[in-house]
Amino acid sequence: MKKSELLYAVVTVAALGAAAALPFISHRGGTQAAPGWADFVSPGHLSAKHEFLASNCEACHTPHRGPTADKCIACHASGGATDGLLAKQSTRFHADIGDCSECHVEHLGHAHRPVLMVHEQLVRAATRAASNTPPVTADATAILDAIARASRATPPHGRISPREMTLDCNSCHANQDPHRGLMGTGCASCHATGASAGGWSIPEFRHPSSLSTDCASCHQAPPSHYMEHFSMVSMKVAGIEHANVSQCFLCHKTNSWNDIKGVGWYKHH
Ligand code: HEC
Ligand code: HEC
Ligand code: HEC
Ligand code: HEC
Ligand code: HEC
Ligand code: HEC
Ligand code: HEC
Repeated sequence: MKKSELLYAVVTVAALGAAAALPFISHRGGTQAAPGWADFVSPGHLSAKHEFLASNCEACHTPHRGPTADKCIACHASGGATDGLLAKQSTRFHADIGDCSECHVEHLGHAHRPVLMVHEQLVRAATRAASNTPPVTADATAILDAIARASRATPPHGRISPREMTLDCNSCHANQDPHRGLMGTGCASCHATGASAGGWSIPEFRHPSSLSTDCASCHQAPPSHYMEHFSMVSMKVAGIEHANVSQCFLCHKTNSWNDIKGVGWYKHH
């Protein structure tokens, strides 16, 4: 399926929702019908790139329902930024997320980029999608089961919620994995999700001392170390005559890979 078709699928779902809500939407005049109304109820200035919509609340808001995805998609489905989103591993979920305003905060003024990643929202979206699929498919049942199971499970550390444990972190973050796969794909067993929890850093982590000799159990050498470059350059630079690639500790310290033991800072030329 093409990227744009995926987005149109979202539009269709959103449109069905809007149709169901029609009987409840009695008031259709909106901003234009009541001049000055907007100034009274707007909770704050829009973000810089949406400022041009300051007198057109209905561009994003559906009367009585608040901001709805169909409105956002009307402008964002066609090319540009949206294509970029679908091309990038971590934001590909935009193809079928169905709701926008839980991560896209507004009315915080010009200085504020209207983006706030809320991982919990991904779990909610999965639950919603699964419980809305009639008849309940094997897939949907599996998602609901996993979420129900996870809600009772004990997380491996206190910085992540049981529900967030159901997310496949690696499916979105594999490109950012600095461990080159050596720590496995269960990122959540060590990491938390939010900026408030310190991003990717792990407060309780203490790096093993430079006296350790099992560096290779957590680190993988770059490809150049498995080529001629290793004996021609790396070993010469380090001044080591006999070494196996796995003996990182012979040449490396723990502060930086470019600070070579007994040699100092090595710069590429
Ligand atoms: C009338 C068209 C229109 C509507 C409706 C609209 N946007 Fe936008 N949006 C834009 C334009 C134009 C930009 C600027 C694009 C650019 O600079 O490439 C933008 C920018 C953005 C940005 C990037 C902002 C930044 O500072 O980097 C986000 C995120 C965004 N929109 C999300 C949304 C969401 C979520 C909704 C619905 C609540 C929405 N938009 C509704 C037209 C619209
Ligand atoms: C689970 C959270 C989440 C939801 C839900 C979500 N987004 Fe996003 N969105 C993000 C994040 C995070 C980024 C920033 C990605 C980046 O900077 O690489 C983003 C970026 C964007 C951008 C590009 C902004 C730019 O800088 O050019 C647009 C447009 C956008 N989202 C529209 C939408 C629309 C439309 C919806 C609803 C259909 C939606 N988003 C739902 C998290 C979300
Ligand atoms: C670019 C899209 C956009 C435009 C244009 C916009 N809003 Fe919003 N508005 C949002 C989003 C998204 C939220 C919910 C997320 C949040 O609270 O940050 C929101 C929240 C609100 C809320 C809080 C209650 C609720 O429904 O969630 C009010 C009140 C509101 N807007 C009024 C207005 C008024 C009045 C205007 C016109 C002057 C306006 N908005 C224009 C996107 C928009
Ligand atoms: C569906 C995609 C998706 C999944 C699944 C996902 N994330 Fe994210 N995550 C994002 C996006 C998008 C961002 C915003 C930054 C970016 O564009 O990479 C983000 C940001 C982060 C950040 C950086 C926070 C910050 O502000 O510094 C951390 C840490 C993180 N995620 C951890 C996790 C962990 C742990 C899991 C599994 C429990 C997970 N993520 C699952 C998409 C995802
Ligand atoms: C067995 C535990 C473990 C697992 C599993 C794990 N990590 Fe890490 N990760 C760590 C530790 C420890 C650090 C160092 C944290 C610090 O210095 O505070 C780290 C650091 C990071 C950093 C920050 C690197 C930097 O230089 O700032 C990122 C990004 C990261 N991990 C992503 C991932 C991703 C993505 C996954 C899953 C594919 C993953 N990790 C799996 C333990 C783990
Ligand atoms: C128990 C696992 C583990 C062992 C053993 C280990 N490290 Fe690390 N090391 C990490 C993690 C996790 C990080 C941070 C994330 C990343 O870069 O993978 C890290 C980061 C580093 C960094 C990057 C520092 C920076 O910020 O650029 C260097 C250099 C390093 N280690 C060298 C070593 C050396 C040399 C040894 C052996 C003496 C060693 N490590 C043993 C887990 C380990
Ligand atoms: C015989 C000494 C020696 C051993 C053993 C060795 N390295 Fe290196 N390594 C070097 C030198 C010298 C450099 C910098 C010059 C170069 O690229 O060869 C380097 C560079 C690196 C870099 C930086 C590459 C870059 O592009 O910035 C990383 C990462 C690295 N080594 C990791 C490792 C790991 C992990 C191990 C063990 C599994 C290891 N090395 C074993 C000598 C060694």
